[in-house]
Amino acid sequence: MEHTTERRGGALRPARPRVSLRDRAARVLDANWTGTSTVPSRTLYPHQWSWDSAFIAIGLRHVSPLRAQGELETLLAAQWGDGRIPHIVFNPAVALDAYFPSPDFWRSSTAGRAAGAPAAVQTSGIVQPPVHALAAWLVHRADPGLSRSRGFLARVYPGLAAWHRYLLHRRDHGGAGLVSVVHPWEQGMDNSPCWDAPLSRISPAPALSFRRADLEHGAADDRPTDLDYGRYVRLAADYRDAEYADSGGEFAVEDPSFNALLAASEHALARIACELGARGTARHARAERLTAALVRRLWDPLAGMFFCRDLRGGGGLVREYGVSGLLPLILPTLPREVVRPLLETARGPHFGVGDQVRMAPSYDLLGPAFDPHRYWRGPAWFNTNWLLEYGLRLHGEHARAGRLRTAMLDVAGASDFAEYVDPRTGAGCGARRFGWTAALTLDLLAERTTR
Ligand code: SER
Repeated sequence: MEHTTERRGGALRPARPRVSLRDRAARVLDANWTGTSTVPSRTLYPHQWSWDSAFIAIGLRHVSPLRAQGELETLLAAQWGDGRIPHIVFNPAVALDAYFPSPDFWRSSTAGRAAGAPAAVQTSGIVQPPVHALAAWLVHRADPGLSRSRGFLARVYPGLAAWHRYLLHRRDHGGAGLVSVVHPWEQGMDNSPCWDAPLSRISPAPALSFRRADLEHGAADDRPTDLDYGRYVRLAADYRDAEYADSGGEFAVEDPSFNALLAASEHALARIACELGARGTARHARAERLTAALVRRLWDPLAGMFFCRDLRGGGGLVREYGVSGLLPLILPTLPREVVRPLLETARGPHFGVGDQVRMAPSYDLLGPAFDPHRYWRGPAWFNTNWLLEYGLRLHGEHARAGRLRTAMLDVAGASDFAEYVDPRTGAGCGARRFGWTAALTLDLLAERTTR
C-alpha cells in the first residue's frame, strides 16, 4: 500500500490508502486462480490456455514461485502422448456453453486417442507457441532453493523435451528445419492480416453449424468476424476428423515468432539440462540451427523484416508487417546484419516503437487492414510488447526499451489490465483484469536482476 497525504481546504489530512500497481496486478492473478492454474479471464476465457499459462508463470514467480511452478505442472499434466501441449485444458466445473469450441467439439479423448490424448482430462487438439521452457527456467531462477527442494526442473524437463521433439519432428511441414502452425489459433494472433491470404482458400463452416460464446463477453467490433470464425471452425474440425494426425491439412504456415520462441525455449532447455547435471551443448546448437533457418527462410533483407511463409499457397512469403516479424529480436545470436535493419523497422513508420505509439501495434500502422481495436489487426498486446522490450534491451536499445516499459506500466494500470489496447491512445479493449497483462506487469516491476 502507498499511503499519501493530500491538502484539502488548507489542512493536511490522511488520504485513502492507494493500492500499488504491484498489489493490483497480484490481486488479478489471485482472482483468476482456480486452485491449480490461472484463467486468462473469468468471462471470455474460463479454462487454462497454454501460452497464457507460460506468460502468467513468468509474472506469478514474483509473488508465488510455488504457484508459478504449479501452473506449468498442471499444463504439462494434460500433455498428449505424442508430445503436444494442447492449447486449452478444459475445466470440467465450467459450463459447456461458457466457451466455444467446447470439449464436445474437440473430442480429445476419443478423436485424439491415436495421438495419445489423456483420458482423464479434456483438451483442445491444437497447440500454442512454445514459451514453456523459457517460463520454466525463469520460474526456477526466481527461487532456486524451492525449485531444487521440489525437484521442479526434473519434473518438467522430460515433458518439455518431448514437446520440442514433437514440434521439430512432426511439424516441419516445409522440410527446412522450421515448425509450421496448422491453425491461426496455434500461432496465437488469431485474425492477424498475415493469415488473410492463407485463410482465403479455406471454405468456412456454415454459420448455423456453431454458436460463438465470445460475443457475449466482448464487443463484436473488437473481435474476429463471423467469416473468420467459420474458417477457424472448418480447420479445427478437419484436423479433429483426421484424428489430429500431422500429415495433410489445408493450412500450414512457418511463422517468425513461433519459431523464435522455440529457439529461445531451446536455449532455456539447454540451461535446464545443465542445472540437472547434463550437457546443454546439443540443445544450444539446435537453437542456433533454428535461428539460422529463420533467417534463411523468413528474413527479407530488402524489407528489413521477417515474414510468414505460406506452404500451401505456393510456398511464398506473405509480405504483411505483423508484430510476429519483429520478435526474432529475442534471439541472442541473431546476425548483426539482421538486427540493425530489424530495429529500424521497429522504430520506423510501420510500427513507430518509441515515438508514434505508446505500445507496438500487432499489425502495420500503414497497412490497409490496420484497425486499432480489432483483436490482432492492430491493437497492442502486452505479451508481444514484453518480448519486444526484452529484445530491444538485448540488442542495446536501452532508452527505447525503457520508454516502452514505462508506457506498458502506465497503460496496464490505467486500463485495468486490459487484454489489448489501442496502440496510440492506450484505450483498453477486450477483457479486463486479463491474466498475462497483470503477470507481465509484475515482471516489468521486478528488479532487473531477477528478470
Ligand atoms: N484466441 C482464441 C479465442 O479467442 C482461441 O485460443 O478463443
